[in-house]
Amino acid sequence: MQTVGVIGAGQMGAGIAQVAAQAGYRVLLSDVSADRADAGKAGIAKQLARAVEKEKIAAADRDAALDRIETVGDVAAMAPCELVIEAATEREEIKRAIFGTVGKVLGDTAILASNTSSIPITRLAQAAPDPARFIGVHFFNPVPVMGLIEVIRGLATSDETVARVEAFGDTLGKRIVHANDAPGFIVNRVLMPMLNEACFALGEGVATIPDIDAACQLGLNHPMGPFTLADFIGLDTCLEITRVLFEGTGDPKFRPAPLLVKYVEAGWYGRKTKRGFYDYSGAEPVPTR
Ligand code: 3HC
Repeated sequence: MQTVGVIGAGQMGAGIAQVAAQAGYRVLLSDVSADRADAGKAGIAKQLARAVEKEKIAAADRDAALDRIETVGDVAAMAPCELVIEAATEREEIKRAIFGTVGKVLGDTAILASNTSSIPITRLAQAAPDPARFIGVHFFNPVPVMGLIEVIRGLATSDETVARVEAFGDTLGKRIVHANDAPGFIVNRVLMPMLNEACFALGEGVATIPDIDAACQLGLNHPMGPFTLADFIGLDTCLEITRVLFEGTGDPKFRPAPLLVKYVEAGWYGRKTKRGFYDYSGAEPVPTR
């Protein structure tokens, strides 16, 4: 597998494109416009420049990785790809439209994969040209740092598709875990209830935002406390996945915390809007409650 397509040049798509290019693949990176794809590549260039400064990689390796990434403004350019990973906005209708369009140009052995964090793979596969060659590959943010890929097979995904995606993940140096096509797969099934529970605890006055964060960071040795992590992921994303868990299982233990809903309704989505459980407009994050 030599050419990999990545659809969506945001944080996740750019991260996936970066690690694939660093592993030696030729990468076609697309977004809704060539400008957006170029912006994604500029972000990758910045990440790689930082790695050169820190002497983690050689300047020549950075240049070679960047040379392997070609930005395109149209998914029709993905025709030469043997694997296409969709990392677009987490909205089912957007993903379905992409699969319909790119599916028309892909060769008849190409694999189409989705980086969805919560939409059922079996359902998404219905929009793909061949559900046997459709699969979930869930990366984690920041992709260059996080060592995991969850591989999720839909009902019709073939063994060969799973094996080829495993081989690809191995070449990226990531650990592969297999999850069934159940709501939240593994990581979000375990993580989101913790973040949601932190919101319940805050809402009930158990402790403050900094104390709940410090308790989990220092008491559990987590790299980030739950509010810092939720702001990092995006509160809108956390709420969306929590709703998928709640609706997908019908189990009231997954009901979204009212405070999480309120923050999302306020448009306080976390780092990306500069305000979530912390305010990021100053030099240091300041708790918002
Ligand atoms: N992109 C690339 N590299 C990054 C980065 C980014 N956005 N942010 C940090 N890094 C790198 C740094 O360059 C540094 O690399 P080095 O060790 O080679 O020098 C390393 O990560 C450590 O960074 P820092 O020293 O600046 O900061 P921290 O030690 O605080 O680490 C962190 C930052 C890696 C983000 C760490 O806090 C962490 O692991 N947090 C938890 C992240 C997490 O849980 N992610 C999963 C979210 S869930 C998800 O993605 C699923 C989705 O479906 C919701």
